[in-house]
Amino acid sequence: MLTINSTLISGAGAFNALEPLLEGKQRVLLITDSNIVRLEAAQRINALLHEKHRQVQVIDNVPAEPSQHDVIALLASLENKHIDIVVGIGGGSVLDVAKLFSVLCHPDEHTIEALLAGEKPQQRICSLLIPTTAGTGSEATPNAILAIPEQDTKVGIISPVLLPDYVALIPELTTSMPSHIAASTGIDALCHLLECFTATVANPVSDNAALTGLAKLLRYLETSVNEPGNLTAKLEMLWASYYGGVSITHAGTHLVHAHSYPLGGKYHLPHGVANAILLAPCMSVVRAYAVDKFAQVWDLLPRADRTLSAEEKSFALVDYLAALVKRLGLPDNLEALGVPRNDIPALSDAALNVKRLMNNAPCSVTHAEVQAIYQRLFPAT
Ligand SMILES: NC(=O)c1ccc[n+]([C@@H]2O[C@H](COP(=O)([O-])OP(=O)(O)OC[C@H]3O[C@@H](n4cnc5c(N)ncnc54)[C@H](O)[C@@H]3O)[C@@H](O)[C@H]2O)c1
Ligand SMILES: [Fe+2]
Repeated sequence: MLTINSTLISGAGAFNALEPLLEGKQRVLLITDSNIVRLEAAQRINALLHEKHRQVQVIDNVPAEPSQHDVIALLASLENKHIDIVVGIGGGSVLDVAKLFSVLCHPDEHTIEALLAGEKPQQRICSLLIPTTAGTGSEATPNAILAIPEQDTKVGIISPVLLPDYVALIPELTTSMPSHIAASTGIDALCHLLECFTATVANPVSDNAALTGLAKLLRYLETSVNEPGNLTAKLEMLWASYYGGVSITHAGTHLVHAHSYPLGGKYHLPHGVANAILLAPCMSVVRAYAVDKFAQVWDLLPRADRTLSAEEKSFALVDYLAALVKRLGLPDNLEALGVPRNDIPALSDAALNVKRLMNNAPCSVTHAEVQAIYQRLFPAT
């Protein structure tokens, strides 16, 4: 089995540090999307890839929230699979596809169908991941998430082989994010950190990563949304997102993500938006089972009242999360996003079926409790 220790490059202006990673890699596959390819910072990296007579194939049309069909179509558009390094520049959608391509283009010839059926890859092509959102933390996880339209949900392909050789956290890549994307992807990172911190499978390694990420995120999320040119805030958010990915790798998400998968899979709600709507309602259910951990998170808030009791802090954190989502201007109900209230029973079936994540929750939830959570996402009648 391939063992992976990603080499990390980070910092404002760290573009030149990419060149040594390309040493001896003549055949490059760049994977990105139609928005990112136009960004000045991405074009700078693209130009670097083209130096030294390298042959560069480019896929620049990865759709948001890709499905297995998208991956098959993108694979078919390749000129050839003779590739020395896969470079992914983008949000989680692009990075997940780049991770899958690093396996699918390897001469071992795995197919996406086989990976979805549980086949475990052993080898892959060298990969470099450069996130442009902060974010999914995909660059630090062994997961690639695909929408499965036939099942109205999403599934994760999970293998340590998907972890990249190289990661570059360069804040200039994230300054162009529109504020609603910076906000929703930032909330996704918050969900990763908070869910992993309170998961049954949490452990000292994942707790350390979660606390480090939470301290950064709670301090810099709003600044990074409101001041897109603030490179300090943008870099700190990239780290928060990366630590969210590390916590996923060592623990796992639970209630928010399990409820969110059907919303992404069936209604194609952007992942961060679905999570933002679910964050406070799910955390109000988790609270009673994680009072001390909620209190620890509360204490990380820059202006927290540390004189409160642990119980009071845990309630205050749930209120803070609801207010944060509102302040960031993210949607707070599903009706406005075109989800019919009648679908609550079917959504609840699908959420309970995401057993991989439900099993990580510190409390087990019944069908009625899951329905009650979805019910809270609609305006009162
Ligand atoms: N692998 C994992 O561990 C993991 C974890 C969580 C989520 N995911 C998956 O990641 C995907 C979501 O990724 P995401 O939230 O990063 O969004 P995304 O990659 O889908 O991007 C959202 C939109 O933002 C645009 N965008 C991204 N960066 C930009 C920038 N710097 N400037 C301007 N526009 C920019 C994109 O072009 C796209 O239109 C989902 O498929 C989700 O399931 C994966
Ligand atoms: Fe996520």
